[in-house]
Amino acid sequence: MAAPWFEDEIAGALAPLVPGFAVEVVPEIDSTSSELMRRARDGHRAPVLLAAERQTAGHGRMGRAWQSAQSEREPATLTFSLGLPLAPRDWSGLSLAVGVSVAESLDPSSAVGLSLKWPNDLWYQERKLVGILIETAVLQPDAAERYLVIGIGINIGARDATGLSTPPAWVQEWRPLATPAEVLRDIALPLVRDVQLFDRDGFVPFAARFAARDVLRGREVRLSDGTEGLCEGVGWGGELLVRTASEVKSIISAEVSVRPVRTRP
Ligand code: BTN
Repeated sequence: MAAPWFEDEIAGALAPLVPGFAVEVVPEIDSTSSELMRRARDGHRAPVLLAAERQTAGHGRMGRAWQSAQSEREPATLTFSLGLPLAPRDWSGLSLAVGVSVAESLDPSSAVGLSLKWPNDLWYQERKLVGILIETAVLQPDAAERYLVIGIGINIGARDATGLSTPPAWVQEWRPLATPAEVLRDIALPLVRDVQLFDRDGFVPFAARFAARDVLRGREVRLSDGTEGLCEGVGWGGELLVRTASEVKSIISAEVSVRPVRTRP
């Protein structure tokens, strides 16, 4: 492995929040999220952050593959998953809360203009910068607690658009010297704090923070089921609100994808 990954520093920062939080970095794996789900099913349910310099079978939402950018030198993509047991009263809106947390860490003053595209993409100048995938493993039937695996992929270095459904953006566009390790160090602690806040209070504390960066609000959108309408933002449970000719539709399914009808000039 080339550059340092600050594992001890990150683990030390997380320890007061979650005792025993392990931080692991591996040179290559099929998928950091698949690995944590496998471990959970095998009974390993301790809190862990697993990052990989290369994924050979990364996956995204709706069964899509997630491909990292290829680079000869430094890894050009940050790919990691965070696994921990969680028992919020209501899981709705968790992926939006994670997006809020990552956006605020990458762009604390909003000067960069990072936006959030429901349910869980981060966009920079109308292009996709970050993908987020939430998976959970049931620990015991009927138990409120589940093992949560949050998988995050962030483009750090330049990448081309070949094979991608949305054109890509990357962190080095506004932070030319950024490395995956530094970005992980920036986002890990606030992310765990925000996941704990969600565990306690649900999506409500994130609603205004999401609205401040919501790229769809006020725009005409088209859903993958053919519905078109005006996006009115998200509700208190993280549901997407779309005003059609006849009603305000409330979209909760992560299996529905949504696009603005026109890109912004
Ligand atoms: C999406 O955009 O559909 C979500 C992409 C999530 C990709 C990350 S990369 C780290 C983790 N491991 C995976 O296989 N997927 C997530």
